[in-house]
Amino acid sequence: MLRHLPLLLATALAVQAADTTLTLDVAAPAGRVSPIHHGLMTEEINHCYDGGLYAELVRNRAFRDDAEKPVHWSAVGGAALALDAAVPLNSAIPGSLRVEVSASGGGVANEGYWGMPITPATRYRATVHAKAAGGLAGPLTVSLQSKDGTVTYASAEVRGLSADWQALEVTLKTKRGLTPTSDARLVISSSAPGTLWLGFVSLFPPTWKDRPNGLRRDLMQMLVDLKPKFLRFPGGNYLEGDTIDTRFKWWETLGPIHERPGHMGTWGYRSSDGMGLLEFLLWAQDMGAEPVLGLYAGYSLKGDYVKPGPDLEPFIQEALDEIEYVIGPVTSKWGARRAADGHPEPFPLRYVEIGNEDWFDKSLSYDGRYAQFHDAIKARYPHLKCISSIGNEQPARLRVHSRRPDVLDEHYYRNTEAFLKMSPHHFDAYDRSGPEIFVGEWAAHETAFPPWDAKSKGLPATPNMKAAIGDAAFLAAMERASDLVTMQCYAPLLANINGYQWRPDLIGYDALRSFGSPSYYAIQLFSTRLGDQILRPVFSEGATIQGSATRDAKTGRVFVKLVNPLPSAQSLRIELAGVRSVSRTAKVFTLAGAETATNSIDAPTAVVPVASTTRVPAPTFTYTLAPTSITVIELKTR
Ligand code: AHR
Repeated sequence: MLRHLPLLLATALAVQAADTTLTLDVAAPAGRVSPIHHGLMTEEINHCYDGGLYAELVRNRAFRDDAEKPVHWSAVGGAALALDAAVPLNSAIPGSLRVEVSASGGGVANEGYWGMPITPATRYRATVHAKAAGGLAGPLTVSLQSKDGTVTYASAEVRGLSADWQALEVTLKTKRGLTPTSDARLVISSSAPGTLWLGFVSLFPPTWKDRPNGLRRDLMQMLVDLKPKFLRFPGGNYLEGDTIDTRFKWWETLGPIHERPGHMGTWGYRSSDGMGLLEFLLWAQDMGAEPVLGLYAGYSLKGDYVKPGPDLEPFIQEALDEIEYVIGPVTSKWGARRAADGHPEPFPLRYVEIGNEDWFDKSLSYDGRYAQFHDAIKARYPHLKCISSIGNEQPARLRVHSRRPDVLDEHYYRNTEAFLKMSPHHFDAYDRSGPEIFVGEWAAHETAFPPWDAKSKGLPATPNMKAAIGDAAFLAAMERASDLVTMQCYAPLLANINGYQWRPDLIGYDALRSFGSPSYYAIQLFSTRLGDQILRPVFSEGATIQGSATRDAKTGRVFVKLVNPLPSAQSLRIELAGVRSVSRTAKVFTLAGAETATNSIDAPTAVVPVASTTRVPAPTFTYTLAPTSITVIELKTR
């Protein structure tokens, strides 16, 4: 999403007198830009997967979301519904939904995740695991209808119902010319009265790359457009679980989706585990990103922890097996399982993270737990880099001292004012011979209170332009230090605007539509113009403009990334030292708006980057930055 500004206006902005000077010595790079600097952080939060990126449309598809009631399901045509523990689908799904149909046309409806996306000329694949009693043989009608049942968008009959469990499959096709809507539900009805049981019901629209059990196309496109180089998963808190028993048990997320038990997540709802370990790996692969695998390390959110020593050994083995699933040869136990799951090729893996935010473990057991994981992983996989989940932003007594982690994960949730204040010098004091830094979670909030404050409830899921300014200032700081800060990822990434537990989030969506926040576009401006050499920007005394600059050694292109936090325009004299010549015209990309300006589901592109050009008469030139703006100037130098 890019708009174009007329050349005249851009040029007019370029001739004013300068308030601030920026000097860049293009011939003296200060370091190498990490090629994997930009990545994505992900976990099941805000209906990020279920009701989000994971394209499944049926909510509570295995009838396990509530022990008492078939939530998100309702009766149609006078049927009676009840959960039935006496009729299990299989050992993973130990129950079903009993449907007593009293008249032809009776059945059930699923409301989806705040509706279902109906688009024209679209094929939806439905799978219904069903059985019946008393000779009821169907057929069943599977249809996509409006919520009130007055409009049918697509419908098909399915035969084969019997007294044994059957996986009945059917394709539903919508017509051309139909107006897209999320006012939809899935209905399964019987042509005759009788009793039937549903064990698992699934419905998929077309997915990214048409992968079965795949991902939502619009959201994947937005993620791919960020050019991420890595994917951190599966958390975050979601990795840890509230309790040890509800940790992310990766082995339970493998295999056919109707044989996955699912589990209670940490953000107030159950996960279907349709997004399992293999799906995460394929997701990374499909984006051209490498996985950064979070390993459960024996601490869960409510404070349970496993003492280092023999008690921790089974958890170490879980982690080693998980790594083997990712990279083991097909001759290994878990490599063979990966091959049986359809992916004989090992995935790339260089980084594993031991736990998540273990500074919350007040028993101070992390040093011992980390050491045990570190030693076991290094013994078996010496090439893997181990990330400590506690970084320098935490008090020294909490950090790992008994081993030298390869990487430290630091988390920064700060308001815009704090990021603007800390960004100019934050990483200057870091020891360049110390561990690499992975900023595994960060985000600016526009509010005076933090995201976890109750006052955040009710605010929009995505941030506004003010937050994007804080984000861009911090991004610039991380980029300037990207020889040290080798990886960074904003968090959280995704939020269903109808059901989120944390704000601000980078991308918002409902069942049908999606949009990027101003922060999304700020990150995109940086990530798509990365360069490979760090240039040291020197601003004149008292400058309020912040920024970073990089150069692409192959093409000679220089990317100057500038943040103007003031609500007024600021002119900037840019002095490029160490160049013989500079291209006469530079490309300019500007993200600007009032602090309160933002995007939303109904106004998805109110704040997007605008492309323009500016004349560069000489290596020293003046450019005027728009009020409250993030600007990238792209020049060709020799
Ligand atoms: O990003 C939201 C949460 O913030 C993550 O789950 C957790 O790691 C952090 O506290």
